[in-house]
Amino acid sequence: MSGPKFVQLYREDDAALRGELALGLLARPASVSPKFLYDALGSHLFEAITELPEYYPTRTERAILDRHAREVAAITGRGRTLIDLGAGSCEKAARLFDALAPLRYVAVDISIEYLRRALTNLQHRHPGIEMVGVGADFSSTLVLPPDAGRGERLLFYPGSSIGNFTPTDALRFLRQARAAGGPGGALLIGVDLVKDKATLERAYDDALRVTAAFNLNLLRRLEALLGCDARIDDFDHVALFNDAESRIEMHLQARRPLVLRWPGGERALAAGERIHTENSYKYTLDGFEALLRQAGFARTARWSDERGWFAVFLAS
Ligand code: AVJ
Repeated sequence: MSGPKFVQLYREDDAALRGELALGLLARPASVSPKFLYDALGSHLFEAITELPEYYPTRTERAILDRHAREVAAITGRGRTLIDLGAGSCEKAARLFDALAPLRYVAVDISIEYLRRALTNLQHRHPGIEMVGVGADFSSTLVLPPDAGRGERLLFYPGSSIGNFTPTDALRFLRQARAAGGPGGALLIGVDLVKDKATLERAYDDALRVTAAFNLNLLRRLEALLGCDARIDDFDHVALFNDAESRIEMHLQARRPLVLRWPGGERALAAGERIHTENSYKYTLDGFEALLRQAGFARTARWSDERGWFAVFLAS
């Protein structure tokens, strides 16, 4: 068995990234897309977040998937092409291999370097599964490589990554996922649920301050990509639950009045003024089910934990 194949579907266009960053910094309120959180260090910091006692989503979802993987397989059948959207360390999908017995595993992630290591290791453990790594940014459009799916496709979108989209964009994404699944396709998706505010806010503002480091790492990226002189000491990490929008928001808040400067632009921030860096929407079971229906999925199954903190949906 040869090793995994790798396909880079998107080239990081530095000029476009700089333009996007500058536009966000000049906006009112200032914002930076959460996709910039995931450079090599950011991806490692996120992995660390998933181990934190306060960050319940990862382990809650894992327990749900472990408990119900056989039921998923009973509905989808075995031997599909498993397409992992935002694969990262590929560990979540790997735990499904026994139950789902995929013929092919297609791991898609924005960070292809991180994917390379993870997939190469995984291929050694599962020599019988054909593996493909795809470097792609599906935050605006979901495109899969043309050879991504002989056989019926099962798209896997775990971790409540869908929460980064506004509900409108989430609906658009779900429609694209339905189309990308093709005839007989299915989507297995993890969704974080609305719960008490204190639990939610602690999950995004942990005692060890790993999430703060994850958020502040954006300032290093502003420096590296844009040549912006942002200083980490000048900002505080802020995470709050916005009830009206049903979302956790992360911000970088200026500790004092300051001016961010980069080649071709500048942005003044008053003390306490924020750069909005991430939204993480929280759904109700019925709210998300309705969204799946609206996206055109006719059949859904769903599983949750005892506390009702997280849910996994299978839509086809
Ligand atoms: C990867 C988008 C699902 O929203 O919970 C974790 C990212 N940000 N802690 C989430 C995140 C801060 C995470 N998602």
